[in-house]
Amino acid sequence: MTTDFLTWSTALQARTEIVLEQHLPNSANAPKTLHQAMRYAVLEGGKRVRPLLAFAAGEACHADPARVEIVACAVELIHAYSLVHDDMPCMDDDVLRRGKPTCHVEFGEATALLAGDSLQSLAFELLADNVLSDIPARQIEMIRLLAHASGSRGMAGGQAIDLASVGVTLTLPELEFMHIHKTGALIRAAVLLGAYCGEPLSEPQHAELDHYAKCVGLAFQVVDDILDAEAPTATLGKTAGKDAEHNKPTYVSLMGISAAKAFAQELHRDALDALNGFEHNQRLRKLADFIVQRSF
Ligand code: IPE
Ligand code: IPE
Ligand code: MG
Ligand code: MG
Ligand code: MG
Repeated sequence: MTTDFLTWSTALQARTEIVLEQHLPNSANAPKTLHQAMRYAVLEGGKRVRPLLAFAAGEACHADPARVEIVACAVELIHAYSLVHDDMPCMDDDVLRRGKPTCHVEFGEATALLAGDSLQSLAFELLADNVLSDIPARQIEMIRLLAHASGSRGMAGGQAIDLASVGVTLTLPELEFMHIHKTGALIRAAVLLGAYCGEPLSEPQHAELDHYAKCVGLAFQVVDDILDAEAPTATLGKTAGKDAEHNKPTYVSLMGISAAKAFAQELHRDALDALNGFEHNQRLRKLADFIVQRSF
């Protein structure tokens, strides 16, 4: 990781956290426990990869960072909600997240469920409360995009397939479909929403950025599968080895570690190749590197 990229990403992670903190309800206000749980789920760690992707795409499209930070936070709120629900006993039944007890372990299942629901609502409140585009119709389109990416034809749909696939041997296209939905959809939304805060893209540029977003979105979950199989719990901040223990179909279970790593590299190259039409693509390139080379 270059110093320049490290400085950029550290500054924008901090900025994201300040904006998230400002928009989350105060935990001194009723219902206190619910507000505490929401803040716990969002503010206690996380790599902030989706916000960074939104900022990088925004930079590539000359967007106002004050607009991008809103979409960055909205996507991160949906992501945090998805993790709270993903960890619950009815889903992956995990006790550790970001090095701490999971939300339901800390606050109980009912509060965790409601915290997830409320984080999702807050994300859309942010998008509706702030001007994100000079063109009102485009702002509506942005809200629609996040809704689609989060729902049954996006992340939640992917999670449903994940749960229905326990103990099932999926074909490669079926596994790809699941990963594109459960993880890829929100990552794609982060990139596109960051870009939509900026200058309009030409058709070819839009297609290229979308291709980049799809490649890094899929790569992100392929690498998550690899890390689950290879990395220690202390580094991950979540219990390692859960996929095999729970009989989840993953790229590792389907093709083995080395083929999964080769596939991640292929997606990485594909993502970088898609960026040639963008002059300011350096941050997006570095984020693709990080997504594939990360160790946590
Ligand atoms: C974990 O996402 C869940 C997946 C979609 C694979 P991250 O690895 O981005 O989790 P945090 O936000 O950094 O904790
Ligand atoms: C989670 O996938 C995807 C979403 C939360 C939408 P995983 O179940 O593999 O994520 P981790 O490994 O628990 O972070
Ligand atoms: Mg899961
Ligand atoms: Mg999980
Ligand atoms: Mg995982």
